[in-house]
Amino acid sequence: MNRARRELLQRAARLGLGSLAMRPVAAWAWQTPTPAGAKKLDVAGPQSLKAHALAHGLLYGCAVNVGLLGQDQAYTDLVRQQAAIVVAENAMKWGPMRPTPTTFHFAAADKLVAFAEANGMQVRGHNLCWHRQLPKWFDGYATKENAAALLTSHIESVVTRFKGKIQSWDVVNEAVLPSDGLPDGLRAGPWYKFLGPGFIELAFRTARAADPGAKLTYNDYGIEAEDEASGRKRTAVLELVKSLRAKGLIDAVGVQSHISAGGDYGSGLAEFLDAVQRLGLEIYVTEMDVNDRRLGPDDATRDKAVAATYRSYLDLVLKNPAVKSVLTWGITDRFTWLNGEDARADHLPERCLPFDQQLNPVEAFFAMRSAFDGAPAR
Ligand code: XIL
Repeated sequence: MNRARRELLQRAARLGLGSLAMRPVAAWAWQTPTPAGAKKLDVAGPQSLKAHALAHGLLYGCAVNVGLLGQDQAYTDLVRQQAAIVVAENAMKWGPMRPTPTTFHFAAADKLVAFAEANGMQVRGHNLCWHRQLPKWFDGYATKENAAALLTSHIESVVTRFKGKIQSWDVVNEAVLPSDGLPDGLRAGPWYKFLGPGFIELAFRTARAADPGAKLTYNDYGIEAEDEASGRKRTAVLELVKSLRAKGLIDAVGVQSHISAGGDYGSGLAEFLDAVQRLGLEIYVTEMDVNDRRLGPDDATRDKAVAATYRSYLDLVLKNPAVKSVLTWGITDRFTWLNGEDARADHLPERCLPFDQQLNPVEAFFAMRSAFDGAPAR
C-alpha cells in the first residue's frame, strides 16, 4: 500500500470512518443523492462531507461556535459528524482571549482543542494578529513603544500553549487593503500604525520560533472575484507572500472565500492560486460561505443559486492540487455570522451554509460533496 493511501486510511480511522478504511475508495464513491430527498437522507459516516473530502486527500471542516459545543447537542453532533478539521469562530482571537493586558482566557480555546482531540480532528488556529476584535483595553493601552512587545508576547504565549496541536495558524489576518493607499497595498490598521510594515514579519518570526511544526498562514478576503479591486488585492497579497516565502516564514495562504451567489469567480483567482502553488506553498479555503444577499426572497431560488456557486467555486479552486482543505465559516444557517453585520436588506435569514436552520442538509451540501468527488486526488 502506498504512503498516501496508508495515511488516508489512518486518518479515516481516527475520524471514526472505519467503514471507509475497510473499503476501497471506488466502492463507496457512489452518485450524489438528489437534493429533493435531502431531508430524509442519512449524511453520516461515509456519506459525510469529511468522508467525501478525505477520499480525495482533502480535509473538510468548519468554524465552531465554542459556546455551543456540548450545550447544543444537535449542533455538536453535526460538527462531529461532518468535520475533520475545526477552527474557533471567535475563541482564539485577541478580544475573547485577552481580558486584560497581562492575562489570558484559555478556557474556550482549550475546550475546542480537547473536543478536536477526542474526535480525531485537526485544528486551525485563528488568529494571532488582526486589526479587528481587539480587546477593549487595547485602544488607549497600546502605543508605538509597547506594541512590539505586546504582539510578540501574545504570540509566544498563545502558540506555545497549543504547541503541537495546531495544524496551521493564521498568523496575520487581513493585513492588505490597497484602497488605504499605503505602500505595498498594506492596510492602515493599528499594528501598522504602531509598528509600520515590519509587524507582519515580526508576527511570523515569533510564531515560527514558538511552534516550528505548525504551518504558518497568511489569511485574507476580497481576493476571490474577477473585479478590479480584487485583482489589485491579489497582486498585493502575492507580493507580501513572496517576501515572507523568501525568508522561509510562511507555509500556506488562506483564501477566506466569503463569496456571493451568482458572483464572478474565474481566471484571476485560478492564476493567483497557481502563483501561490509555484512558490511551494499550500492553500486553504478557510472561511467559505455563499451569501445570497443579491437575490430575491424565494427560498428555492436562493438554495439553487447558492449551491451552484459552491459547486463552481470549489470546482475552480480544487483543480489546484495545492488546495488541501476547505472550511466553511460555520456549518448551519442557524448560527451564521452573515445575519449579523452583513445581513440582507430585507432581513430574511441567509441560506449560506451546507445545513439549514433545522440542521438538515441542503442543496449546497450535495454541491460541496459532488465537488469533493470530482476533485483531482491529492
Ligand atoms: C467573524 C465572526 O464570525 C463573528 O462572530 C464576529 O463577530 C466577527 O468575526 N473574517 C475573519 C473572521 O477572519 O474572523 C470573521 O469572523 C469573519 C471575517
